[in-house]
Amino acid sequence: MKAGLIYLAGGTGKRIGGAIPKQFLPLEGKALALHAFSLFEKFDWIHETVVVVDPAYQRIFASSKEASYALPGKERMDSVYNGFKLLSEKIEMVIVHDGVRPFVKPHCVEELYHTALHHGAAALAVPLKFTVKHALEDKKVTFTPDRSTLFEIQTPQAVNRDLMEKGFSLAYANKRLVTDDVSLVELLGVPVHLVEGSHDNLKITTPDDWELAQILARKALCVSK
Ligand code: C5P
Repeated sequence: MKAGLIYLAGGTGKRIGGAIPKQFLPLEGKALALHAFSLFEKFDWIHETVVVVDPAYQRIFASSKEASYALPGKERMDSVYNGFKLLSEKIEMVIVHDGVRPFVKPHCVEELYHTALHHGAAALAVPLKFTVKHALEDKKVTFTPDRSTLFEIQTPQAVNRDLMEKGFSLAYANKRLVTDDVSLVELLGVPVHLVEGSHDNLKITTPDDWELAQILARKALCVSK
């Protein structure tokens, strides 16, 4: 099944500080968003790539494989939709990755693709290492969910193209904002499957994440030398 990659680099990413969005800051000499981008070039089942990025930063991706570019939307979901609209008719499976997760492992991506081929929708996930509580604005705890049933959801996520299209229609018609891609499938009542990710598939959001990313990137460079 031919897959299309929507590679998200359209956020303003200012929580790390500085004038440049975090996804374009250099991590071991290479823009953060380019780390995982290169990895996706290895998969021959990916037939098209759409990078969602502000035109001012498009050139960062120019020397990599052929890609088309979509404009970022207001929310992450709008950015994914902008990318989705650029995929050609031949694409049957959509893979979405956050460009701020540089350490995703190739074997996880491969397993994700095969799971989505069989089940229609899949996301990388790791079991929660900590306890989660639900509380409202007054900070009074309302309940504590059973941790053994909870997972932290990562990207990439893979969704059958038709399911994604139906999910977007339903979400926009009902003004539902989703923060990940398989949620579009959940809205349709279709089951989503989880594939084991890894704890180092970090989402780089805060200055602390950035420091950790530098350590992991240095370690990865040492191992590959
Ligand atoms: O904002 P958040 O941390 O959830 O961003 C996850 C990914 O989605 C990042 O790679 C970011 O660049 C991208 N994004 C986007 N368009 C938006 C918001 C986020 O492409 N409007």
